Amino acid sequence: MAEWIHTVTARTPTNIAVIKYWGKRDESLILPVNDSISVTLDPQHLCTTTTVAVSPSFDQDRMWLNGKEISLSGGRYQNCLREIRARGEDFENKEKGIKIAKQDWQKLRVHVASYNNFPTAAGLASSAAGLACLVFALAKLMNAKEDASQLSAIARQGSGSACRSLYGGFVKWIMGKEVNGSDSLAVQLADENHWDDLVIIIAVVSSRQKETSSTTGMRDTVETSILLQHRAREVVPKRIVKMEEAIRNRNFSLFAQLACADSNQFHAVCLDTCPPIFYMNDTSHRIISCIEKWNRFEESPQVAYTFDAGPNAVLIARNRKTAALLLQRLLYFFPPSADTDMGSYVLGDKSILKDAGVEGINDVQALPPPPEIKDNVPAQRNGGEVSYFICTRPGRGPLLLSDESLALLDHSTGLPK
Ligand code: ADE
Repeated sequence: MAEWIHTVTARTPTNIAVIKYWGKRDESLILPVNDSISVTLDPQHLCTTTTVAVSPSFDQDRMWLNGKEISLSGGRYQNCLREIRARGEDFENKEKGIKIAKQDWQKLRVHVASYNNFPTAAGLASSAAGLACLVFALAKLMNAKEDASQLSAIARQGSGSACRSLYGGFVKWIMGKEVNGSDSLAVQLADENHWDDLVIIIAVVSSRQKETSSTTGMRDTVETSILLQHRAREVVPKRIVKMEEAIRNRNFSLFAQLACADSNQFHAVCLDTCPPIFYMNDTSHRIISCIEKWNRFEESPQVAYTFDAGPNAVLIARNRKTAALLLQRLLYFFPPSADTDMGSYVLGDKSILKDAGVEGINDVQALPPPPEIKDNVPAQRNGGEVSYFICTRPGRGPLLLSDESLALLDHSTGLPK
């Protein structure tokens, strides 16, 4: 009889922090200097799918990311593999003739194939979804009994923000106090149905510049920024309490005010680092100005903005109607070039395009300037600065995929399909 292969496939979302994680107090355990809060993004539009397989016929741990074999020797992968192997339990599938005792997990080698449904290099927190998915899938494969919070503390050791991708909706990463990191884990504040009128539009901003990696940037900030100490000790603890209240009460004005202020302070901390770190570019700044002007004109926030370690804007609109007005403004200021079709310029939930009344390039060209800039209409609109937009919403947490056709590894060879 050919040796058996046991496989599991899972899908895990990415997340965007609205109270930012920046700075580690322990580099190897990945322990942060402050709590953070995120919104999980709908995996329909942004997710990682990972298949993990185990078989006595595999002679080494191997991984393929987006079809290309990569090394699993890095510390982040090794931490996750070691922690899940140590928690594996007995597993049996009589039908397939599979029987694995808990002590076997240390000896058995795994194959991993992972695929991000968005460009890995676009700066959209692919490692958060990727490491969360790896941990979630391995835990199912090895029959580990850990709950989502316990798994989050393992995912954290792969990539800090990955711990927040173990839940849908609104998630808090509690920094914890223990030296061994056992209480640094994620908890769900509210699920994805709690505040389901929010709409999220991501502007993937064109960038030629190679950004400072988060790991290097955080290290430099912790070593040199005085503002980070003030932020972590005085500012974030109060903001966390208020952000939890804003989410609980679906108070959009408070939510937007806190999210924008926190993003701006994170980038101020980057500027306060020696040497200074610039993640936002002129396009990011133009997007902030556009939102700030509009929010002031409306006399209450319509849209929140937040920027991670890169120039992309994540814009959160209070409802669908506002999201349509937001998309009109974004397309007015950042039109696609003449040869781009709208279908590849606005991705994700395309019904927002319909609501905005801009289904073709002619509709974009006919957009009037928004009323808040009527005395200050620019001579030139900024074509080419945005690569594309993604329309999405808050979404669910990890999901097991039982449909064999969705697996990324062949069930008889254990190699990528
Ligand atoms: N880094 C970026 N994407 C990833 C993925 N899907 N799995 C593991 N690491 C990743």
